[in-house]
Amino acid sequence: MDERERFLIRYAGSFAPEPIARAEGAWIETASGRRILDFTSGQICSTLGHNHPRITAAVQAALGEVAHLNSWMLSEPVLALAERLVGLFPEPLRRVMLLNTGSEANEVALKLAKMHTGRFEVVGLTRSFHGLLSGIASVNFSMAHAGYGPLLPGSFAIPAPYAYRCPVRHCDGACDCTCLEVGFELVDQQSVGSLCALVAEPVLSAGGIIVPPDGYFRRVRELLDERGMLLLMDEAQTGFGRLGTMFGFEHDGVVPDLVGVSKTLGGGLPLAATVTTAEIEEDAYRKGFLHVTSHVSDPLPAAAGLAVLDVIAEEGLVERAAVRGEYMLARLRELQTEHEAIGDVRGRGLLVGLELVVDRDTRAPADELGAEVTRECFDRGLSMNIVRAGTNANCLRIAPPLTVTEDEIDLAVEIMDAALKAVREPAAA
Ligand SMILES: Cc1ncc(COP(=O)(O)O)c(C=O)c1O
Repeated sequence: MDERERFLIRYAGSFAPEPIARAEGAWIETASGRRILDFTSGQICSTLGHNHPRITAAVQAALGEVAHLNSWMLSEPVLALAERLVGLFPEPLRRVMLLNTGSEANEVALKLAKMHTGRFEVVGLTRSFHGLLSGIASVNFSMAHAGYGPLLPGSFAIPAPYAYRCPVRHCDGACDCTCLEVGFELVDQQSVGSLCALVAEPVLSAGGIIVPPDGYFRRVRELLDERGMLLLMDEAQTGFGRLGTMFGFEHDGVVPDLVGVSKTLGGGLPLAATVTTAEIEEDAYRKGFLHVTSHVSDPLPAAAGLAVLDVIAEEGLVERAAVRGEYMLARLRELQTEHEAIGDVRGRGLLVGLELVVDRDTRAPADELGAEVTRECFDRGLSMNIVRAGTNANCLRIAPPLTVTEDEIDLAVEIMDAALKAVREPAAA
């Protein structure tokens, strides 16, 4: 441990064991020169791999022109990125606001939804994560509720479509959306008549890589339309290709009223956007919508965002994520046949989870094992996240850059295999 660590506020438990000195592609390198395969893409942001030369060039160019401006001033990168983004979204999503973080993009989307509808009740899914600003954190049901006093009134949860552990004890392995119908019955009975919006991730990531069944969001859209509610899709992790489609909402063919994009737009820089319809934007503008922050519409991150969109198109990264995702799922399913502790393998594109269990019959979550395997993998040169799926942290989240090669996937699977053996059968390893 570097003794200067004691000057830092510990914002999420303890820090990773060694400082990182440099990063390139799917690899990071510690200060002592150890190379580690980064299967978290940083904080799920570096979808082009670390330090892509095009991002570096865009940032250097922006520093030579203009990096930051008064929040009311516009610049070429901001105007160009707004136009490019609108071109990627379906009608009627035609208005963009450029921000910095995923929490902020979702927060702004909710503020627009509330101002437009004049209502305040917001529905989220259990096991969801949307960010840590208090407004959006009120519908953040996977974690981080306790300890900070009241959250927003009018925040409701419906059960997530978690087929491996059905929240309403109805399905087993394949969700038939009963949880969704039950959820809306509960919402209707609790509502004070001010239902505004539902917010959801296309695949719930921090809550354990929960993949909703086909058609789930079509039914969500119907339920919302019946109530005059808006749909906010949180594409922080899934936007711009990770699931093998440009956006996660395309899978069910629904069009949201508001979208939050963030992590995957900046290529490692803090860049996010709220996207909505002209109707919502014009109404909110008339009503005096205000959300002016220090770094709204900054030119430097916008220049990086343009480079990200260029590289995604030129390198065909959306299609590549679909192909490599299939390959990775197949390799992990092979690994599952070797290890009783892997209860479930699930995911879409290059967002995949391995749920660890004590044994496959009881499906009792193997909480300790998750932490041990992650640590062992890190020591052997593979960085992965552990996320909450059972009672504790027992789901390995695997989200490499979209540029990952088959060789790198093979190496990661080899390391996982060795780590599981070392942890489960230390004598044999
Ligand atoms: C789905 C989702 N939404 C929102 C956020 C919040 O983004 P940020 O940390 O940039 O505020 C995250 C962060 O992990 C996320 O995974």
